[in-house]
Amino acid sequence: MAKSAALAQVETLSRTSPAERTRRARPLGRGTSALTPARRPAPFVKWVGGKGRLLTQLDPLLPAGVERMRHVEPFVGGGALFFARAPERALLADVNPDLVGTYTAIRDEVDVVIRHLTKLAAMPHESEAFYGVRERYNRGGQSRAERAAMFVYLNKTCFNGLHRVNRSGEFNVPFGRYKNPRILDSDGLRIASHALGAAEIVNDSFEALLRHAKPGDFVYFDPPYEPVSRTASFTGYAREGFSQDDQTRLRDVFAELDRRGCKLMLSNNDVPFIRELYDRWNVDVVQCPRAINCDPNGRGKVPEVVVRNYR
Ligand SMILES: C[S@@+](CC[C@H](N)C(=O)[O-])C[C@H]1O[C@@H](n2cnc3c(N)ncnc32)[C@H](O)[C@@H]1O
Repeated sequence: MAKSAALAQVETLSRTSPAERTRRARPLGRGTSALTPARRPAPFVKWVGGKGRLLTQLDPLLPAGVERMRHVEPFVGGGALFFARAPERALLADVNPDLVGTYTAIRDEVDVVIRHLTKLAAMPHESEAFYGVRERYNRGGQSRAERAAMFVYLNKTCFNGLHRVNRSGEFNVPFGRYKNPRILDSDGLRIASHALGAAEIVNDSFEALLRHAKPGDFVYFDPPYEPVSRTASFTGYAREGFSQDDQTRLRDVFAELDRRGCKLMLSNNDVPFIRELYDRWNVDVVQCPRAINCDPNGRGKVPEVVVRNYR
């Protein structure tokens, strides 16, 4: 069977030198955002708070020389910045064990994941099929690769791509009524797998960074946001949510890594509590297009802060 252009590109890239790869793929933070015909890595899941629509605003805020630094993301989620940059060395972490298991399977056994996902994608997009997969997933007992395929399937077919679990850790997001969801993107998964090849992937809370981060690392923090108002809050990424105490402990980790000599960038909502926590560092404001509850139309541009310990 003829190889697709994107897959041929992955194979060619893996045979080229790092310098040549940089020249061809032109990822973010390397002095240009020019689009090239080559397909670039991108998130393989939809993720609440994903940074896809902010990348062009984050790009000029990356530190000089970022291409020589290890890329560290302790709240990786869908990994929009990681995939856009496709760095040579990375440490990715998230507290969500199912998400981290999926990243690891896509890095290490992408063909097996694709085989399982091919079967799931062939089912009719109907609620009965969705709830059948969801029930099997919650029962467990599958291989890591099959679970990864089920995770991607559920993400693409559930309501709004949410990830929510109940008290027993069972995935409980309902069926999403999409006309024709794109469940299987084999080339996209292979390109993502290639980008993850140089990444260490860890299932842990952000405080584990104190053990892992080294001077000279570039660390991007994209935590669950402090809500604009507590009633409009959505912090249900993990079972526990993310409280103001968590935000304060995160600031303490930021301060410790600053002392250690890491280059640090952090995103959050532009609210007084966050401004006060980070008042020692440089703060820029970016405008994020996203749905908000207090907007009568449900949509608008929301100011966000980007905190950095460098200029
Ligand atoms: C705003 S999302 C990150 C979005 C990501 N930057 C993207 O582009 O998709 C926040 C992530 O933090 C993770 N998270 C929540 N609490 C955490 C904790 N204590 N330690 C590490 N990760 C955590 C969530 O599972 C979620 O994936």
